[in-house]
Amino acid sequence: MNTTRPAIVTDFSLVDGLSQTKTPLRRTISAMADMYADREAARRLAEEDVLVYEFFDAGVPESPGEVAYGTSIVYPGKVGDEYFMTKGHFHSVLDTAEIYYCLRGRGIMMMENPEGDVQWEELTPGTAVYVPGRYAHRSINTSPDEQLITFFAFPGHAGHDYGTIESKGFRKIVVERDGAPAVLDNPRWAQ
Ligand SMILES: [Fe+2]
Repeated sequence: MNTTRPAIVTDFSLVDGLSQTKTPLRRTISAMADMYADREAARRLAEEDVLVYEFFDAGVPESPGEVAYGTSIVYPGKVGDEYFMTKGHFHSVLDTAEIYYCLRGRGIMMMENPEGDVQWEELTPGTAVYVPGRYAHRSINTSPDEQLITFFAFPGHAGHDYGTIESKGFRKIVVERDGAPAVLDNPRWAQ
C-alpha cells in the first residue's frame, strides 16, 4: 500500500482573500436574486450582474478523514436595505460542523437548524465562529466599504445542500436600520 501523499499548500491573501494559484467560484446577484427580500432591487442589480461573493473549493477528496477548506470573500453592498450575503446552505451530511475564522472586515454569521433554532454571531478579524452540525450557515457583510473575508474548514464528506435554503430562505434577514445592522424576521420565509 502506498502511504505517501503530498502535502497541499495554498496561498490566500490577507488583503483580498484571493489566491494566486487557485481560481475562485463566483456568485453574482443574478444567481441569487430571489433570495433577497426586495426582489425588485435585486432584479435591478442583476441587470449589471454585480459580484456578491466568491469562494474556493479546495478540491480535497470528499471523505470523512479529509478537511475541506478555503476562503470566502463577500463584497460590501446591499439589495434595498439588506446586506450582501452568501446563498447559505445546510451540509448534505447534516451533522457535520464547520469553522469560520474572520481575516478581514465585519459581518454576521447567520445560523439555523431544521427545528427552528436561530443564532447569529458577529464576525470580526481574529474571531472564529464554530458552526455546529445540523445548522445551516450564511455569511453576511455588514461593512459599508470593506470585504468580509473568512477562512473556513469542514469535514471532507459534508457535501452541500443549497436547495433547502433556496426554496425556504433563512428565518431571519439582516438589514441596515439607522446606519447599523438589524436582524429582522424574513417576510419571505416559507415554512
Ligand atoms: Fe458549510
